[in-house]
This record gives sequence, C-alpha cells and structure tokens, in this order.
Amino acid sequence: MKRFFLSFLVILGLIILAGAAVIWLGLYNVAADAPHWKLTFWILDEAKDRSIEVHSRDIIPQPLQGNELIDRGFPHFHNTCRLCHGGPGISPLEFTAGLYPRPPLFPSKDVQQDLTDTQLYWIVKNGLKMTGMPSFGVTHSEQDLWAIVAFVRRLATLSPQEYQAMVQKAGLGLGEKEGKHP
Ligand code: HEC
Repeated sequence: MKRFFLSFLVILGLIILAGAAVIWLGLYNVAADAPHWKLTFWILDEAKDRSIEVHSRDIIPQPLQGNELIDRGFPHFHNTCRLCHGGPGISPLEFTAGLYPRPPLFPSKDVQQDLTDTQLYWIVKNGLKMTGMPSFGVTHSEQDLWAIVAFVRRLATLSPQEYQAMVQKAGLGLGEKEGKHP
C-alpha cells in the first residue's frame, strides 16, 4: 500500500513538472490565429454549454413581449452587439474575422433554438470568458439586459427592411465602413 502511494506521488510529481515545463518553455501557443485541437475545442465547448446550463438554472424568466421592450433593447443591440454579431442584412465589423472563436452571425439559428431565454440573459449579463464576448451586466441595468434578450428574440423574424426602419426611427446610423463585407 505504501509503495503504491509513493509511486502515485512520483507520477503526480512528474505530471506537474511536465505541465510546468510546457508553460515555462512557452510551448502552448496562445495565438488567436492558431486554432485549438479538435479535442481541446470539444472539451471547452462542452464545459461552456454545461456552465451556462448550470449557472442560469435558477434565473426567473421575465416576460419578453411588447414593442416597448423591443424598442428599448434595439439601440443597445445596434450600438454594440451588431458590431461583432451583425444583424439582418448587416455584416459585423472587419476585426471580428480575427476573433477566436468568431462571434456567431445574428440572427443565428443556434442561438434562437438551442438557448432558452434565461440562458441568453445569462450570457449577455455575464459574458463568456476567453472569448471576445463581453459581460454587459457590468454596464447595463436589469431592464436593459432583458430588453436586449427581447430584441435578440425579435431578430428571428426581423427583415433587413424592418431593421433599417428601426435604425431610422431611432436616429442611429451606420459608420463609413460598417454594414459592408470586409
Ligand atoms: C467584441 C465582440 C462582441 C460583442 C460586442 C458582443 N459579442 Fe456576443 N459573442 C462574441 C464572441 C466572440 C462570442 C463567443 C462565440 C463562441 O463561444 O463560440 C459571443 C457569443 C455570444 C452568444 C452565445 C452564442 C452561442 O452560440 O452560444 C450570445 C447569445 C451573444 N454573444 C450575444 C451578444 C449580445 C446580445 C451582445 C450585445 C449586448 C453581444 N453578444 C456583443 C463577441 C461579441
């Protein structure tokens, strides 16, 4: 038993040393243009999905109906989310091509179908570590966060013309290079 325990400690020590060597020698490439191995990607993706599911479990969903809420969410979406995620008939900004992982293009089928309202709310509020997805809970009120969720849901059926009409109505615009494919 004692020998078994000692071998276990030696092996554990070697694993820790090997890990430290990989870090010290700079072998892990943090470059955003060097994709993860398939296995690493799969593990990170599973961890992300489970983390979102577990952390959003106890959030009480708020009603998302009503134009007022959608109109409140729109400028937030247009001024920030759209820059990375695009929108109906609108491309994201050029720099997002270099983000890793790349933000999904909105309206995204996956976001509409795979995420519940509370999961969507949790992501917008808390952001996603080690991606470019910011936490909006740091800067936005509860009402604004739910309004953004309501607007993202509205995106599922919003045409490019309707989106443009909302841009005009809110007196917002597109920058010089915005809204065009890089
Ligand atoms: C600076 C760029 C950036 C901005 C601004 C941004 N996002 Fe993201 N977003 C990302 C990235 C990167 C991801 C991660 C994609 C991944 O993990 O595959 C992401 C992921 C998401 C996801 C999860 C998608 C999925 O498939 O699980 C949602 C939902 C989302 N963003 C909504 C929003 C909303 C709503 C806003 C505005 C309030 C916003 N994002 C603003 C970059 C951004």
